[in-house]
Amino acid sequence: MSGTSLDGVDGVLARIDEGGCATLGHAYLPFPAGLKQALLALNTPGSNELHEAATAAQGLAVVYAHLVQRLCEACDVLPDEVTAIGAHGQTVRHRPELGYTIQLNQPALLAELSGIDVVADFRSRDVAAGGQGAPLVPAFHQSVFARPDRTVVVINIGGMSNVSILRPGASPLGFDCGPGNALLDAWCELHTGQPFDANGGWGAAGSVHEDWLLDALQDPYFTLPPPKSTGRDLFNDRWLTHWLASHGHTDGPQADPQLARDVQATLCELSARAITQAIHEHAPEALDAVVCGGGALNHDLMRRIREQLPGVQVSSSDDWGMPVMQVEAAAFAWLAWAHVNRHPGNVPEATGARGPRVLGALYPAR
Ligand SMILES: Nc1ncnc2c1ncn2[C@@H]1O[C@H](COP(=O)(O)OP(=O)(O)OP(=O)(O)O)[C@@H](O)[C@H]1O
Ligand SMILES: [Mg+2]
Repeated sequence: MSGTSLDGVDGVLARIDEGGCATLGHAYLPFPAGLKQALLALNTPGSNELHEAATAAQGLAVVYAHLVQRLCEACDVLPDEVTAIGAHGQTVRHRPELGYTIQLNQPALLAELSGIDVVADFRSRDVAAGGQGAPLVPAFHQSVFARPDRTVVVINIGGMSNVSILRPGASPLGFDCGPGNALLDAWCELHTGQPFDANGGWGAAGSVHEDWLLDALQDPYFTLPPPKSTGRDLFNDRWLTHWLASHGHTDGPQADPQLARDVQATLCELSARAITQAIHEHAPEALDAVVCGGGALNHDLMRRIREQLPGVQVSSSDDWGMPVMQVEAAAFAWLAWAHVNRHPGNVPEATGARGPRVLGALYPAR
């Protein structure tokens, strides 16, 4: 799995059956710098896109193959013993309202390099059935985190954030809340040179500018009813620049250091509010919230979420038996398992699709 944060690739080896999913190992590889830049650039229209996209997709497949090899070695498992790789690919455009969503990938190359069957292209079948193609994780979240006696909310904080609402005896609901780490990462990198604000320490020393926050929350996305999904198509550097400019602030590394931290704190509060407003509105009865994704490691973000959800037990997915950086990768292993077994992977109530569909396409290794 490589998500909208563009931080790199997380992989898990998982054992999956009808009864559940257990992760047996985890590996992470950062993107080579050139690949990260190429992928970031492909999120917005540019020249020679077909060539750039094909080249980046090959680069991705090579990183995925290295990660698979590393994982198999660490877990002492042979490629022949692995049923399938679920490879989501890298989202570079997400426009379900226009009938498409694009994940760069080269599953044939990954099958060739790894010697393992690959299941890829999970989102297009749901979009073809009128859905958003996202989020695809609610069914997996339900299989791992649902409880028979109470509503559980799963909060995934990647580049964007999404929630799954798991009610006893009901289909799970889920949608993207808004920006998660993407804007925080962009601002942090610009001002500190670090790709993300480790543990949220830099932004924690800033003050939230309420008027800036309220203005950001005016973005129509936040009040759009589900099903809905978003990405870097909306919450990107342009969004950030426009928001700053509307408050008379031009960004740049030379800006006042305290103001830079205030912006980080305000963006962190925005990510928290996007999530907690969604929960207040759509799952007010929830008593448990399980947080996963890299945002769960940002203490300042977690503190803000906890403060805004009084009466809710907000825990890291580590405490529910699955480490925060493993959940999304495990979800796509689970979706590959669902494909191989011809089980639908989408939840129509969550994506808005006309019905349940078997997701993905198979690239046999031989
Ligand atoms: N120690 C940390 N402190 C603060 N933030 C962290 C830390 N480690 C990771 N992160 C944040 O988490 C991000 C990576 O998270 P993750 O891999 O879940 O996102 P993603 O790739 O967008 O995932 P997805 O789209 O699958 O949800 C980093 O870009 C960074 O912002
Ligand atoms: Mg990631």
